[in-house]
Amino acid sequence: MVGTDTEASSPGAGDEVRAAAAAGPIGVFDSGVGGLTVLAEIRRALPAEHLLYVADSGHAPYGDRPNAAVRARAEAITGFLIERGAKAIVIACNTATGVAAAHLRALHDLPIIAMEPALKPAAACTRSGVVGVLATSGTLKSEKFEALRGRFHGAVEVLTQPCPGLVELIEAGDFADEALRCLLADLVLPLTQRGADTLVLGCTHYPLVRALIADIAGPDVTITDTGVAVARQVQNRLAAAGLLRDAPLPRGRPGSLGFWTSAPSPNAAAVLIQRIWGEGVPVEPLPC
Ligand code: DGL
Repeated sequence: MVGTDTEASSPGAGDEVRAAAAAGPIGVFDSGVGGLTVLAEIRRALPAEHLLYVADSGHAPYGDRPNAAVRARAEAITGFLIERGAKAIVIACNTATGVAAAHLRALHDLPIIAMEPALKPAAACTRSGVVGVLATSGTLKSEKFEALRGRFHGAVEVLTQPCPGLVELIEAGDFADEALRCLLADLVLPLTQRGADTLVLGCTHYPLVRALIADIAGPDVTITDTGVAVARQVQNRLAAAGLLRDAPLPRGRPGSLGFWTSAPSPNAAAVLIQRIWGEGVPVEPLPC
């Protein structure tokens, strides 16, 4: 007998392997809590996906560390996430992207999605022709950023602003701290005074203080970041690889969440992660 209904609808071995791979989690990491801004956009775009997040706060900021040290952390954390079944990795850190994305892609045969400061949308929306980029020194010094900047050479003026000390203040978690506002004013006002009407948040920590930056920059300045675009890219890459988790919402259950931190005080780090994430999620000490 050829092609009974049952045979026609039963999945073959290849389908089962693909379904098992698609059921795996997406692994996301950053030097600390900044990548939560990317994780939130992934959650919004792909609520059925299981998500693992590593906040490497014990080694933050990456921006002031030697490239080899950041690359070693990225490699160790990616290995940890893959051991936990990650089907794709999101480097939710511009600094780690600059020094480690190519290295990780050479090591691992799975989708690795990385960051790129949102210069393209900024160049499209500036009216003054001047765009300001706030990022870590590591990102601004990277060849990847130089190449990106080169793409807009002649089209817009790109002003860059390294932000030493900013990631540390954001990791401290006191967003009402006067020292944070003063530092932001020192970083943002030189850009707007030189004519920037569009600011690029080139570090995933900075959207956590977007309201403060907007307040300092004023209502005529547009602020861009990459979270939504990266979430869309994650969706496209998983779809192309047949790795999207097939659990349609709202009837399907939302994907699970797992958080790890390398902060010296995991309990304090958990409080900050939960405050930023907006719900009580389990946070464990990172074993690597
Ligand atoms: N969130 C990281 C980034 O996007 C911060 C880097 C750092 O720790 O210096 O670059």
